[in-house]
Formats: sequence, C-alpha cells, structure tokens
Amino acid sequence: MAKVKTTFFCQNCGTQYAKWQGQCNACKEWNTIVEELIQKPDKKDWKTSTLKTNKVSIPLQINEIDTSKESRLDTFDNEFNRVLGGGIVPGSLTLLGGEPGIGKSTLLLQVSLKLPYKTLYVSGEESQKQIKMRAERINPEHSNCYILTETKTQNIFKQIEALEPDIVIIDSIQTLHSDYIESSSGSISQIKECTTELIKFAKETATPVLLIGHITKDGNIAGPKILEHMVDTVLQFEGDRNHVFRILRAHKNRFGSTNELGIYEMQGSGLREVSNPSEILISKKDEELSGNAIAATLEGMRPLMIEVQALVSTAVYGTPQRSATGFNAKRLNMLLAVLEKRAGFRLGAKDVFLNITGGISVDDPAIDLAVVASILSSNEDVSLQKDFCFAAEVGLSGEIRPVQRIEQRILEAEKLGFSAIFVSKYNKISLKNRTIKIQLISKIEDLVSFIV
Ligand code: TYD
Ligand code: MG
Repeated sequence: MAKVKTTFFCQNCGTQYAKWQGQCNACKEWNTIVEELIQKPDKKDWKTSTLKTNKVSIPLQINEIDTSKESRLDTFDNEFNRVLGGGIVPGSLTLLGGEPGIGKSTLLLQVSLKLPYKTLYVSGEESQKQIKMRAERINPEHSNCYILTETKTQNIFKQIEALEPDIVIIDSIQTLHSDYIESSSGSISQIKECTTELIKFAKETATPVLLIGHITKDGNIAGPKILEHMVDTVLQFEGDRNHVFRILRAHKNRFGSTNELGIYEMQGSGLREVSNPSEILISKKDEELSGNAIAATLEGMRPLMIEVQALVSTAVYGTPQRSATGFNAKRLNMLLAVLEKRAGFRLGAKDVFLNITGGISVDDPAIDLAVVASILSSNEDVSLQKDFCFAAEVGLSGEIRPVQRIEQRILEAEKLGFSAIFVSKYNKISLKNRTIKIQLISKIEDLVSFIV
C-alpha cells in the first residue's frame, strides 16, 4: 500500500509547502495555507499514456511543423466560435467559469447537442436523467451526444478509450477526483492532478476538452490560479441572473483575441444566440420619455447600442442618494460634479439613479456623454429625441473627449436608423456623405444648449 503523505498548499496560488506557515511566500497572502492529504501510488496501474501511442517529443524546425491538421472544429454556434477565435482548436483545454445558475451547463450541453461529432458530456453534478430532461428542452434531436455520470478520472478515461469521442466536456472540474491523490474533490491538489491528466489526454489524442469551473465569491475561478495557467483558454460566462442576457468573454485565449464577446439570451428552451444585440437592448417605445439616452458603445470588437436611464428627483433626506446599476458609481459622482461645476446644475440636493437597461454593465468611457445627457434630460424633464445617440468621454473640465473607433460606432448607429450622433469635435472622422448627422461638440455647455 502506498505511503500516506500530507502536504500544505496555498489555496490562493497553489504553492506547495512541507509544513504550515502563516503567510504564503509566493503570493504573500495570509492564512491561505491548508493541509491536504496526498498519496503517491507505488505503481502506476493505468494512466492516460496507455490510451494511444506514447510519443516521444523531438525538436522540429518551426517551418517543418505541420499546422494543416490544426483546423478548428466548428461549434455551430456563432457566438461561441467568435469568442474562441473561430472554433475549438484540437487538443486544447478550455475552461468555462461563471456564477452558479448562470447557464454554464446549459451552454455546453447545448453546444454538444448541436455538434455533428461524437461528444462525451461527463457530469459529476447531475444524473443522466436530469441531463436528458434538460436536453429535451434545448434540442430534442440529439444523436451524437453521450452522457456519462462519473467523477473518477481513471474511470472517465476508460470510457473515453472505449467510446473515442471527438470532444469531451467535463461538468465540473471541481467534482472530479483522481485515485493518485487522496484528498477530497475540489481541493487544490485534486484539481491540479485532474487537470494535468486531462491536459495529457487532450494533447496526446488531439481531442479538445471543455471544462466547467465554479467561481468563488469574489468572482475568480475556484481552485488555484495555476489552473488558469494550465489551460489554453479561459472563458467567463456572466450576466445578471434576473435578466435574460448572458455575456461570454475570453479572459485568456492562446489561439485568439480576448476582445471578442458573445451574447446570449436565456429562454425556456435554452440559450439563444443574439446576433444583433443593439436591437434588443434598446426599447422600442413610441412615446418619448425623459431621462433616456442611447449610447454607442463597443463591447469587445462589436459596436453595441445601449440605453441609459436616469432618474433625478429632489432628495427627501439630507444626504442625496446616488446609485448606479451597470455603471461605475464613482464615475457617476465625477460626472455629477462636472455637471455641477461646468453647467451650473444644482444637483447637490437631488437623488440620482442611473440604470443601464438589459442588466449589462459597461466600462467603455464612451458612455459618459449618454449618462450626462440622460441626467440632464431627467433633471429638466424634457425628453431627448429618440433617434439621437451619443459616443464620447467627458473630462473633468467638462470637455468632450474623443473615443476610439468612432467610425464603427457611427456606422452602427446609422444602420439602426438613428438620425444624429453626438461625438467629440476632436475625433478624426473621415466618413463622408452619411445619412446620419454627425453632431460635433467640444464642451458640456454645447450639449446643454441642445437639450434645454
Ligand atoms: P445551469 O446551466 O444549470 O447553470 P450552471 O451550470 O451555470 O449552474 O442553468 C440554470 C439556469 O438556467 C436555471 O436557473 C434555469 C435556466 N434555464 C432556462 O431558463 N431555460 C432552459 O432551457 C434551461 C436549460 C435553463
Ligand atoms: Mg451546472
């Protein structure tokens, strides 16, 4: 029998120690070192290396390396393809993180149901019947998808060997455990070991593996940070659980850009790809309401028109309330101070509430001008023309600053039928003869004169 051994791991960065200490030398975090039981097996009975030929790596000149076989697997989901950089790379490990209930299992099950390849969906969280029920809701025509409920990696590899799937999905990495390690599932050493085994399997057989990972309270993927270093791609599925929109972004991508973003809408029958998000995020109201302004923002490489709503009312209590949903509250306070100082608005005694509709949050500075416009509109109780939109940053001295890729924003606004877009005078725009009116402004006072 193997000798039982314990080691200490930092729960934050995964560094290993022989004995306990208060602070981790590597990441300088306190009280993160925890004892875990590990067991080194005497002899390796079955490992992934028995799966296929155990190749020995030899150096190759870079020109000799054949990439023709590295063509990506199409996932038949445009949003997912876009975020991955054009499809799944064979032999890659992709980690999908996100809050509980956001739709990670739904997304990957949906992708595996759509794929024409043989897919193996391994779940350690739900039973086969539960997954079948979910699959029935999403897409009843499933043929090439196999469901396995198993948590032991050695057994999973045995099934993989028998089935030879083209793609493997693991829901979730925290539920897996390997026989080579004694500690419980979800512990640092287990996550590390299981991921290492999966990487070995993926690289040796060129089978892509998609992993679902839980996230901790503060939004990081649970487990050691090295998990993110080990995998090729880290995707994050986010959104407000009370809203229907979900955003898929890449935090790390060895095979593509991390600027791309996928948008989904959660429906009764699974996730629907949203190929034209602007049309959904803007409410199509006939009457003109005060306090609403449309911003032309960019999410990743995609232009996105979003609606900003502000409500300005007289403060009931001494200290006025400021609250922002989907927008940085500090930035809101800064914009209010600029309005107070530069445009003479006495907002000090007013409550200001700001909301970005659709439950999405934006950190593009180009939204500033729309925020200011919506506040002014609500304060004056005059509605903005609903076919106006805004794209500029507001500086501390009330100047309207240029933003990047303005032409892309203007073209999107024009495509969606806006009649005018307010941009900074300092933006270099070479677009000629557009049907949309490009209103150039240089300071906040210019905007005020348009609205009031
Ligand atoms: P799930 O994929 O189980 O989340 P995760 O794996 O990230 O924890 O998604 C669960 C939520 O999705 C649940 O609250 C209900 C919702 N949902 C739908 O609205 N429609 C559907 O067709 C499915 C399958 C789920
Ligand atoms: Mg799940």
